[in-house]
Amino acid sequence: MRLTKKAAALALASCMALSLTACGGGSTEETTAAGGAAEETTAAADDAAETEEAAEVANKDKPLVWFNRQPSNSSTGELDMAALSFNDNTYYVGFDANQGAELQGTMVKEYIEANIDTIDRNGDGIIGYVLAIGDIGHNDSIARTRGVRNALGTGVEANGEIDSNPVGTNTDGTATIVQDGTLEVNGKSYIVRELASQEMKNSAGATWDAATAGNAINTWSASFGDSIDVVVSNNDGMGMSMFNAWSKDNGVPTFGYDANSDAVAAIAEGYGGTISQHADVQAYLTLRVLRNALDGVDIDTGIGTADEAGNVLTDDVYVYREEERSYYALNVAVTAENYQDFTDSTVTYAPVSNQLDAAEHPEKTVWLDIYNAADNFLSSTYQPLLQKYDDLLNLKVDYIGGDGQTESNITNRLGNPSQYDAFAINMVKTDNAASYTALLSQ
Ligand code: BGC
Ligand code: CA
Repeated sequence: MRLTKKAAALALASCMALSLTACGGGSTEETTAAGGAAEETTAAADDAAETEEAAEVANKDKPLVWFNRQPSNSSTGELDMAALSFNDNTYYVGFDANQGAELQGTMVKEYIEANIDTIDRNGDGIIGYVLAIGDIGHNDSIARTRGVRNALGTGVEANGEIDSNPVGTNTDGTATIVQDGTLEVNGKSYIVRELASQEMKNSAGATWDAATAGNAINTWSASFGDSIDVVVSNNDGMGMSMFNAWSKDNGVPTFGYDANSDAVAAIAEGYGGTISQHADVQAYLTLRVLRNALDGVDIDTGIGTADEAGNVLTDDVYVYREEERSYYALNVAVTAENYQDFTDSTVTYAPVSNQLDAAEHPEKTVWLDIYNAADNFLSSTYQPLLQKYDDLLNLKVDYIGGDGQTESNITNRLGNPSQYDAFAINMVKTDNAASYTALLSQ
């Protein structure tokens, strides 16, 4: 309910002139029973009620932000513009997947080059790597797989883009989904081979599944462990699971994505590196666009344009693509060289950590879901950040944790959207935006 100050004052004034029950809008009898004199007041109360009703925002018109999983076709990657422009106050907040993917691929390649004298563990001239894939239908996961294959020369083009499908096992290099790459270092030529890759989905259907990745590395290492020189993962949750299960003890560099605190700390113990997707900027943007829409101010406030508290972002940390209604944080590689600056992934980004004034920006309630309460990145990095920003932005957020498998597990807990001022949605599957917008359109 968005009441203007004036309307609220009016409603209050007429309420004081009437009985308490009348204020609740319940009994007409009591109000009319007061006779002629009361009639005027009744009319005023009716007016106020009307203003109130007019100011009441329909659920379908409330601010909505999609985050982390961009509404898109899980087969083609095509953006779901109907969901992204559901109403005038709808946005997506994520990160630049291609820029991050390229960074991750380059980070792995540069590590191999810098350690070429020791990296080939069995000395067969082949640098073998295994790859943990998060979700074959998630455009960020697809981009990361492509980024690594592109940098290492192992990608095969299919319809103008690098094939991102898992290869299964390819220890002999005969697969057609990938190819052997070559790396020239110090005048010597090496083969780079994707020995194996698999989508880490558990039997219940949860993707990006860390436990599945831990099992996979155990299986792979048991049959061709000596040829695994590098472990790469679409994220740190799976990467750390593989590192802890096998690569740490075997001195095999493992690369992930997300810069979760535990992964950054593991760099001191041989974890090869990770990519920060600037969750500190994303979590801010997720709630900031809602705050701005609720305040009725320009959407750029506190983003590209400083707000009155001094919050502002510079364009080296995010981009906004108007035609996609999307904000994308930029990525940074985190390696042995700079990891000391990234040890706590839950610290808010300083340039946007100023408290908003509660009188100017009164408390609003937000419904927010995390598609899988067990997701490492979302639960150990993103949500703690959101919980810090919600205080700074005076938002009261209800956090709903899903099971990572079915949309209904989450949508069932949006029984009464009218009770909220805004919504922040993290879908299980990127195709499923309509399961949420249907509830808001009712
Ligand atoms: C993160 C993954 C996470 C996924 C969830 C990605 O951006 O890198 O770690 O599992 O989001 O959607
Ligand atoms: Ca080798």
